[in-house]
Amino acid sequence: MTLLTSPLPALARDIDGKAISALVLDEVRAEVQALATQQVFPALAVLLVGEDPASEVYVRNKLLRAKDVGIRSLEYRLAQDASQQQVLALIAQLNADATVNGILVQLPLPAHIDEQAVIHAIDPIKDVDGFHRENVGGLVQGIEVLTPCTPSGCMRLLYETCGDLSGLHAVVIGRSNIVGKPMATLLLQANCSVSVVHSRSRDAAALCRLADIVVAAVGRPQLIDASWLKPGAVVIDVGINRINTDTGTRLVGDVDYASARTVASAITPVPGGVGPMTIAYLLKNTLIASQLQRTTLPRALAVI
Ligand code: GUN
Repeated sequence: MTLLTSPLPALARDIDGKAISALVLDEVRAEVQALATQQVFPALAVLLVGEDPASEVYVRNKLLRAKDVGIRSLEYRLAQDASQQQVLALIAQLNADATVNGILVQLPLPAHIDEQAVIHAIDPIKDVDGFHRENVGGLVQGIEVLTPCTPSGCMRLLYETCGDLSGLHAVVIGRSNIVGKPMATLLLQANCSVSVVHSRSRDAAALCRLADIVVAAVGRPQLIDASWLKPGAVVIDVGINRINTDTGTRLVGDVDYASARTVASAITPVPGGVGPMTIAYLLKNTLIASQLQRTTLPRALAVI
């Protein structure tokens, strides 16, 4: 008797953010050790205002990873009702401290504090988040600057997965300042054709189906399923959303992983995909900041 069986459809392979972030952290650790022999000790200051539980977890992880690779970290905490003046005064103090190379203010800030005022109070050369307009402008112009950590991490995942990205069509879903816009810029610099899909796009799924590379950063749990994808697409899922299940809660991305992996060729899982890359690139940025500070003239001299 002959059994008529249809072959199981191939599933996308996972893009292992844990393993790739470990490579980045190894690179950072090696560089920290080399700098120590020259008596250079890069330091990162992290400021948390208030007690947002998710922010507490993110900050704790950032500080732990910094310690892991030998980067000195300084933790600053201000109460939920701290004034904007207090935040700005602390940033001024850290800007002036030559032993501090990177400054990160964990977002979101309490509603009474103007986030933009705080971001732009940080000296751009210490802005390891890459959110200051000077760094954003430099990124668009292709000048070496401090680049936002999550998009940098996504680019590394793509290079490790695809190699050269030239000529590929990338669709970025979401247009935030933190991920969508800098991601689109980095993909353009990597010679991709780039489309940005957002809440006003006429037919987001149809645009997305044209993509060789999909980067999802919209904050909508499991929005993107197989019907949005061209067969063989590479999918980077930046979303981290907590959803309710019958037995409690679980974390999911902006992509419906189970559905998408039946069509994609490679996909980042959530958790374990993009998440670990963000911290790794924060620490890499701290090294870059320290390097820029050693090779760039102080601002007062630079304008003479
Ligand atoms: N909150 C969520 N993501 C980020 C980030 O990348 N940087 C900072 N500073 N805060 C965040």
